[in-house]
Amino acid sequence: MESVKIGSVGLGRLGYEHAKNLAASIPGCVLHAICNVDTSRLRAVAEELGVPHTYTDFAAMCADPELDGIVIVSPSFLHVEQIKIAMEHGKHVFCEKPLGTNVAQCKEAEKVVEAHPELVFQLGFMRRFDPSYAEAKRRVDAGEIGKVVLVRSCTQDPRSTIESTLKFLPHSGGQFLDMCVHDLDLIRWFTGSNIRNVWAIGGVFEFDLCRELHDTDNAAAMVQCENGAMGFLFANRTHAAGCNVETEIVGTHGTLRIAPVGARNLLQVVDEHGARQEYYPDFMSRWHTAFLAEMQAFTDHIRTGTHPADLTVYDGTAVSEAAYRCKESFETGKMLPIR
Ligand SMILES: NC(=O)c1ccc[n+]([C@@H]2O[C@H](COP(=O)([O-])OP(=O)(O)OC[C@H]3O[C@@H](n4cnc5c(N)ncnc54)[C@H](O)[C@@H]3O)[C@@H](O)[C@H]2O)c1
Repeated sequence: MESVKIGSVGLGRLGYEHAKNLAASIPGCVLHAICNVDTSRLRAVAEELGVPHTYTDFAAMCADPELDGIVIVSPSFLHVEQIKIAMEHGKHVFCEKPLGTNVAQCKEAEKVVEAHPELVFQLGFMRRFDPSYAEAKRRVDAGEIGKVVLVRSCTQDPRSTIESTLKFLPHSGGQFLDMCVHDLDLIRWFTGSNIRNVWAIGGVFEFDLCRELHDTDNAAAMVQCENGAMGFLFANRTHAAGCNVETEIVGTHGTLRIAPVGARNLLQVVDEHGARQEYYPDFMSRWHTAFLAEMQAFTDHIRTGTHPADLTVYDGTAVSEAAYRCKESFETGKMLPIR
């Protein structure tokens, strides 16, 4: 296969970012088609990125015989339905997180992926492709910090992007499923263990919309893994300085910390307010390298007929299930086992 032809669905906050990357920055990949329900957005992006084929109907795009793979960046509740349509049309699939918005959907996705072992399926847990997280994983796997005892992970979106975040909230699946899935994925990845129990707390500290949606705007959880390792996570949507994601992995013989200050570079700015480091302004810039690397991996898998070794549909189900249990734990105030 000379170059991999991709069709991408969803041109919102992240869909546009993925489309730009696929159109110009992934060697061996051609962005052949895009799909979106909003026709003016569809036309504008096709023109800007030089994409030859446009669709408002997802199944019609999947029926294009020239396409090798589909990238799904649509609202989360559509993911499983679209995975099914794409795979039944013989297309490889990259799907953004979360896998589904309930466990039944995730189980359905498992069946579809199992029915198509010849097709690549990759999930959008892009932190695993970030150079610092990948290096931490390499060191953990090499035994450099001994046995992993605790993973502490925090995800804070910037206040400066709150308007687009609030628009996204009604179809986000809620804070545990939308944001905390990344931290739950990291806890499973670094501990090498499934999650056994969760206890989640949180509240609405600022945005009434979150209350209307039975959601939180600040959420925290403590988890216990099957192998006894522990996890703490925290998420909020209004970090003052920019996009802040911190992870600490504590082992019996050492500790690894990623971005204890979410600084975008080593520059120190000194002015009348004092000395400071600037944060990444949004999640797109924080994870730019990781978004590129995960898309490169997806198209390489298609070209070489290989599959992601440790990022499967079952990881998607396990993480989503833990996230749903966090939501139920928050609602009931109880520590809950994973079923
Ligand atoms: N990996 C990450 O860190 C990360 C970050 C942001 C978003 N996401 C995920 O990406 C997905 C999209 O998020 P977003 O922030 O870009 O959302 P968004 O609301 O900004 O964009 C959604 C897009 O899908 C389009 N759309 C809606 N229904 C459609 C349909 N039936 N057919 C075709 N297009 C349709 C909308 O017009 C819009 O362009 C979500 O699942 C979200 O969880 C992941």
